[in-house]
Amino acid sequence: MPDKGARIFATADIGREALDRLRAHGYRVEVHTDTEPPSKSLIIEKVRSGIAALITTLRDSVDEEVMAAGAGTLRVIAQCAVGVDNVDREAANRYRVPFTNTAGVLTEATAEFAMFILGAVSRKLYQSEKLVEENRWGSWHPYHPFLGDEVTGKTVAVIGTGRIGKAFARKCLCLDMDLLLHSARSRDEKFVGFADREMQLRYEAGFSRKRRTASYVSFDEAMSRADYVSLHVPLVMPGESDTPTYHLINREAFELMKPTAYLINTSRGPVIDEAALFDALIQERIAGAALDVYAKEPLPADSPLRDARLKDRLRLFHHFASGTRETRLSADPDTGMAGRTVQAAIDVLEGHYGGNPTRMPYVVNKEAFLDEDE
Ligand code: GLV
Repeated sequence: MPDKGARIFATADIGREALDRLRAHGYRVEVHTDTEPPSKSLIIEKVRSGIAALITTLRDSVDEEVMAAGAGTLRVIAQCAVGVDNVDREAANRYRVPFTNTAGVLTEATAEFAMFILGAVSRKLYQSEKLVEENRWGSWHPYHPFLGDEVTGKTVAVIGTGRIGKAFARKCLCLDMDLLLHSARSRDEKFVGFADREMQLRYEAGFSRKRRTASYVSFDEAMSRADYVSLHVPLVMPGESDTPTYHLINREAFELMKPTAYLINTSRGPVIDEAALFDALIQERIAGAALDVYAKEPLPADSPLRDARLKDRLRLFHHFASGTRETRLSADPDTGMAGRTVQAAIDVLEGHYGGNPTRMPYVVNKEAFLDEDE
């Protein structure tokens, strides 16, 4: 049922244009404007004060306590992110609060970022820039002071073939890479067929010197054959499913990788065992890594990953993969995370789709409302 005049609290400023859409719908919107996240107690206080919608980001822990504070009043949690590992799904289901995400609108931004950081670490872009910046650029030499590894024509393992994994794989087609796809959940053979057709076309046209291949393979095969391993899985903790992804990339996985291979992570930090990654890099078990996400964010000042000895082989970014103006801020729900977040809140608050959360496109925990879906 429409609920104009209801109050909404946003734990971060998701952009004026999108928030103004909520105001234009008659909602009273309060925004936590500090760039640092609000404390848990502030979130609880706001929820307890009777807000109808809570807009969150992945830095907020949305757990049982938050749900309990909003019992009877909180009608929707609209997360401005695709990942929802910060939201306690079971608690949300128990309190029958739909929570939403922004799947779909950050696919291309994240996939292209994964490709760019893959290129950055492999082609030593940071070292090259630093050389110029520090005026240490000597005369041209065939291999001094360093060389990079060429990406074109190499083999890439795409671990996780949801939207972002497949978008990343599509970008790899343009670099004539062989694709080793791995998914613990489901295989999209149709996608493989289309990738194969594109590879054939590129070969026939002479765009690609060698006929490239795409196939689904086991995890071990993906890890052991790849020149680049790129992670595109959600964080799934042990016990949450029979295919958890927590520490999926552990010591055993590093043992499988070629010493010349690179690891790229734009998914979630805890998918990698960082202690094992540190050892793999220090011992030169692998060639390098580029990370956008970490076990703990922001990356702690004393993280071993900051070790100066790793600098040339480990490039670190600040959870920035979706960080484009379009993707983060557009108020259009088909383009921007902000737009999708506010649309998701509006859908629930105004009872779109017959007021049935199972029919609302951005609701994640549809299972909690199946009884409304006669
Ligand atoms: C970013 O990491 C997101 O989940 O949106």
